[in-house]
Amino acid sequence: MSANFVANTVTDKLSRNFEYLRISVTDRCNFRCSYCMPSDIFNKDYSYISQDNILSYEEIIDICKLLKKIGLKKVRITGGEPLLRKNIDKLIFKLKTEVMLDRVSMTTNGSLLSDDKVSELKKSGLDSITLSLDTLDKDKISVINGTKKNFNLMPLLESIEKHFNIIKTNTVVIKDVNDDEVIDIINHMKNFKSEIRFIEYMDVGESNKWDPSKVVSSESLLESINEHYSLKQMKTETSSTAKKWHIKDSNSSIGLISSITQPFCSSCNRARLSVDGKLFTCLFASNGFDIKSVMRSDNYEEKLLELFKKIWMERSDQYSQIRFSSKRDLPKVEMSYIGG
Ligand code: GTP
Ligand code: 5AD
Ligand code: SF4
Ligand code: SF4
Repeated sequence: MSANFVANTVTDKLSRNFEYLRISVTDRCNFRCSYCMPSDIFNKDYSYISQDNILSYEEIIDICKLLKKIGLKKVRITGGEPLLRKNIDKLIFKLKTEVMLDRVSMTTNGSLLSDDKVSELKKSGLDSITLSLDTLDKDKISVINGTKKNFNLMPLLESIEKHFNIIKTNTVVIKDVNDDEVIDIINHMKNFKSEIRFIEYMDVGESNKWDPSKVVSSESLLESINEHYSLKQMKTETSSTAKKWHIKDSNSSIGLISSITQPFCSSCNRARLSVDGKLFTCLFASNGFDIKSVMRSDNYEEKLLELFKKIWMERSDQYSQIRFSSKRDLPKVEMSYIGG
């Protein structure tokens, strides 16, 4: 047995255990958020992954069963927009009942949710929903998210709270775009049991024309939030992307995700599975390992397990930590394809 494979865990070159898989179930989305799938690039000529190259639910389940043997505890279903994929509740049900994962969560833009759909997802075993919520301003929604002006998430909030007990929201904060709305968003979300998360705008993919001057640091956000609320820092799991603060006299907390100014690579326990079955060990990678081809060969189980262990044990990614100090030659893959 290799030195960095101890029963049921696999550890990388920076002593990080593998525990968490983010699965992109589709690279398509019905939104065109400027920071993720800008409409000038993701237009009718964009080449999405073809149907026969997409991993089936059976294949996803089989991969998760194998990865559970070496430490997989948690899956997050992402995209693109995961609810565009048919029968996603069936996948969730199997992840919970056949693979028996501790946690299965989903990040969604919410546009395909209704009270019935939220209830169906809960019944299938989904543990939590995170909603993207960048603005409360009807006129800005179409500009930031590239969707209809009348899109309204608000009726869903009650439904998610009712079925899941808590609502998590993600707001990507962009200077001079929606940074003036942070307090309004908190005021609104504080009416619910909620975890209100603000994310530093990141240089994911190659399409969003990222400009570092558009990043609003979590530190400056915290200063302005502190002027309005009494906050108490909470303990978080070491692998959490967010640092959290409870808002006094409320059922809500603030989460700040600071990949640019306070990277969290040292505790990064996650891999990503793209819609066409490539395994990526960093959100900012250029290449993935084609595990779908291995899966589609004979007697693949042992081969795949060994391949995954090798990939993880050789992993040394820490892009956010070295973002400003190292030059790269290869382009980064797009976030909608790799799974957020
Ligand atoms: P939980 O840990 O389950 O709360 O969710 P999460 O924060 O991992 O997932 P979510 O999909 O809500 O992502 C929130 C933000 O964190 C998004 O902007 C993601 O792109 C970003 N994010 C998630 N994982 C990573 C990561 O490993 N590295 C970096 N740099 N950003 C990440
Ligand atoms: N920077 C930060 N967060 C981003 N997301 C998408 N693109 C970016 C980016 N460039 C967030 C979305 C979604 C989550 C999966 O990733 O808001 O909530
Ligand atoms: Fe779609 Fe989410 Fe990307 Fe927006 S951030 S374009 S909703 S996948
Ligand atoms: Fe993990 Fe890469 Fe994100 Fe760092 S930049 S936290 S290594 S996914």
